[in-house]
Formats: sequence, C-alpha cells, structure tokens
Amino acid sequence: SHRVKLGPLVAAIDQGTSSTRFLVFNSKTAELLSHHQVEIKQSFPKEGWVEEDPKEILQSVYECMERTCEKLTQLNIDISNIKAIGVTNQRETTLVWDKETGEPLYNAIVWLDLRTQSTVERLINKTPGRNKNHLKHKTGLPISTYFSAVKLRWLMDNVDKVHEAIVSHRAMFGTIDSWLIWCLTGGKSGGVHCTDVTNASRTMLFNIHTMDWDPELCDYFGIPMEILPRVRSSSEIYGLMKSGALSGIPISGCLGDQSAALVGQMCFQDGQAKNTYGTGCFLLLNTGAKPVMSDHGLLTTVAYKLGRDKPAVYALEGSVAIAGAVVRWLQDNLGIIGSSEELEKLAASVGTSYGCYFVPAFSGLYAPYWEPSARGIICGLTQFTNKSHVAFAALEAVCFQTREILDAMNQDSGIPLSQLQVDGGMTSNRLLMQLQADILCIPVVKPSMPETTALGAAMAAGAAEGVSVWSLSPDDLSEVTSEKFEPQINPEESELRYARWKKAVQKSMNWET
Ligand code: G3P
Repeated sequence: SHRVKLGPLVAAIDQGTSSTRFLVFNSKTAELLSHHQVEIKQSFPKEGWVEEDPKEILQSVYECMERTCEKLTQLNIDISNIKAIGVTNQRETTLVWDKETGEPLYNAIVWLDLRTQSTVERLINKTPGRNKNHLKHKTGLPISTYFSAVKLRWLMDNVDKVHEAIVSHRAMFGTIDSWLIWCLTGGKSGGVHCTDVTNASRTMLFNIHTMDWDPELCDYFGIPMEILPRVRSSSEIYGLMKSGALSGIPISGCLGDQSAALVGQMCFQDGQAKNTYGTGCFLLLNTGAKPVMSDHGLLTTVAYKLGRDKPAVYALEGSVAIAGAVVRWLQDNLGIIGSSEELEKLAASVGTSYGCYFVPAFSGLYAPYWEPSARGIICGLTQFTNKSHVAFAALEAVCFQTREILDAMNQDSGIPLSQLQVDGGMTSNRLLMQLQADILCIPVVKPSMPETTALGAAMAAGAAEGVSVWSLSPDDLSEVTSEKFEPQINPEESELRYARWKKAVQKSMNWET
C-alpha cells in the first residue's frame, strides 16, 4: 500500500466568506493529507446588507477540525504529528464581542456589506477636495464601505449592546482571525486577543508605515483604542489550542486569506503576483520592503511579516468584490444552474455571450473604480439571448474584471506581468481559465494543488520561532506541478470585447445617484 514519507504535520484553518476548511499538510512535501469543508450561511437582512453568524463560524471550525482528525485516524496517521496550526481568513469582516460573557454582540458584518454607503459618502464630502484617498498616505486604502473601521462605527452607533459594552470596558473588536484565535485559545477564560499585520492593514485604523494602530485614524473614526486586538507578526506563537483533540497545539500563523495565497504560491520576490478566485477576486503583487502607492486605483497593503524580527513586505492589490459570488447568485437567486459545476457546461454549450455583457456590481465597484453607487447590469440583450449566454457573460465578467486590475497593476509597476499565477475554487473551471488567458493575452498558470491559501497559512505556522518545522524555501515545493492555459484568440478580438465591457461598466456606474 501507499506509504507516505511523513514529516511533521502542519494544519490550517481557512475561514472564507462562503465556507470554512481545515486542512493538514505534510511539512516535508507540502502534500495535502486530509481536509474537511463546511459551507457558511450568509444572511441579507436588507438590500445591500451581508451578515454572518460568528458562533456558526466558530462551530464550523470545530466541526472541520474534528472531521479532519477522524479522516487522519482512518488513514492511520497519528494526529499527534500535528505541530502547529495556522489561521487564514476572509478579511475586513467585523465583529464585536463581550469579553466577560464571550458572546458576540451582533452578527459579523461581512466585507461585502454596503450599509455604510451613506457614512462613506459623508466622510468623503467632508475631506478637502472631496478626496476618497484622503487617508491613503497612512493606510494605503481609499475611504470605502469595504474596510472595517466604518463597519465598526456603524455597530457603535446602531447597536445598543455594542455601545454599552464599550462604555463598560467589556467590548472586544476583531476581524475573523481575532475572533477565532481568542475563542480557540480559551475565550473568556484567558483567550488571546490579537491580530496579524496583514489583517490589521485592512481595518483603516492601521498605519502601514509605523506598522501599528494609528491614534489619529482611531480618533477620526471615533474608535476607542482599548477595544483593538494586539497586532503581531504573521508567524509567531500566539497561544495554544485550549480544547478538543488538538488541545495544546500552538496557533502560530495568521494571515488574511489573500496574503496567505501569496505565500502559498511562493511569491516571495519583488515583482511576483498571484490572482485568487474566491467569493471575490484578488490580485496581489509583491512590492518588497517598500509600500508603493498606486496611481491607478489599487490598494497598498501589508503582504506578510513572517516573524517578529523579520521585515514587513508590502503588496499592491487589485480587489474585485464579485467573482464566485456571481455563480452563487445565478444558482440561488435566478435558479438557472443547480450547482457551480453546471455553470461551465451551460456556458460551454454556446461558447460565446453573443454580445451580452454582465457587470455584477452587486456591492458597488471595487478596484480600480471604488464606486459604491454602481449596481449590477446585464446588457446587450436580444430575443436571441438565453440563459447560456448570460452564464457565459458571468464567466467573462470575472475575466474582464481581472483584466482591469491587471492593467492597473502593469501601469503602476511599469513592468507588465508576462504570465498570471492563479488559484482558488473557481480555477477548477477550465472554460474560465481559457477565457482568462484569452482576455489577458498572456498565459495563465494554475498549480495542481489548489489549496494555496491554506498552504500559505500552514507554512507561516510551521516556520514560527519555537515550532520551526517548515523552512519557507522554494526548494520545499520543487515537486509542485502546474497547468498552463495559453491565449487562443487573436489580441484584436480580445481588445474589442474588452472595449465593450468598459462601455457596460460605464452604464453600471452612478446608478443610485
Ligand atoms: O477581502 C475579502 C477577502 O479576503 C475574501 O476572500 O476568498 O472569501 O473571497 P474570499
């Protein structure tokens, strides 16, 4: 029988917008040994609002851990070989809990949520020159509904329990990483309240130059600093698992999911980039030790800091709000597909959108526009158009949005990418991958092990001081294989379609004003 050469094992919790996963890797080969996945419910209590239940999220983590451990036992793999656990998560999603009862005081407000649109517009109108980039010199971010600070402000202003907990010094704020690490390390009886630099850099309260919470930013949003978690590096021991089969194992890696994918794709050199197709779609370019400010609508963000004494590395990021989410919308809201796998078949049955363009601006438009008042449109319809064309247009939308952020990236960096490294759930859609290569006019390269986000978090956890079972050297992954999709249409056709897409985007803008 197949006998794996087992080195020490390292696990990762991957808590994404749509699902939670727990995965266990062999640190010698980066081979994925076992995993389990649970879907997460999203609620849409009002138009534009998106919430998730923090307790359900925590429960899903425990369930994934238990099931994965059972699977390992069935494979005859001793779970005591697991030496460390990394956490990676959907970023920006915001919650507040009571440190004495351990209870969340409201649902988590998901990054996609638009309830703060009017607050954001008011803040921008108050800046000199109505400049959404007013805080960019410190944060690397435009003022937008996307980031945590405005969501936290909304909770303070609208949820009595949050207000009361703050007044009585019982409130803790966190993104999902903080909530999970606090709960897993003991919660109300001694849990560790921390976050890492990558997650912190998405709150708009963090100064990416000083690498700490910024009193002026906190003041600007009216956030009391005592409710903030302590900021740590992305790779160090934060605390130990307090209960369950993995009790006593150090939690020693923490990265926002897009940063984790960059690490998992081994983009450690200045100039290397990856694009992850999850609920949204996020292209990150490693820019090395210096934060580079974008002139083309990209974010400047902390890529990782792999150890307390290691330097911070920065990235330029193109964020697209809706990618996989459009597939779920076609399934749940329109019912034209029964599963995400059906989408590829339906779209492939026509192989063209026949001039139909779908701009899924459900949460406004993110990069490079940052336009909260945009709304989704489907245009270019004729009596000939059917659901297959709409399905095709939805896939093309993901590719066109990637093209827009890639163009911005090329302009900012001055060095065009010659190929695109990709990962994430949607990359199993081969039609999408081919379309992406066609629309970018460069090859698209996909690793055969798609769980790069979890791998990055496991690597960070395994490399932490005091764990040291993973060396973070690209040689470790020399066996990693990949698949390449080459562009197959001529660039003129690609440009023509892209120009039409740009027209469609213009139609989706300023819908609400
Ligand atoms: O910024 C949001 C991002 O971290 C969410 O990632 O994988 O859930 O789309 P994902």
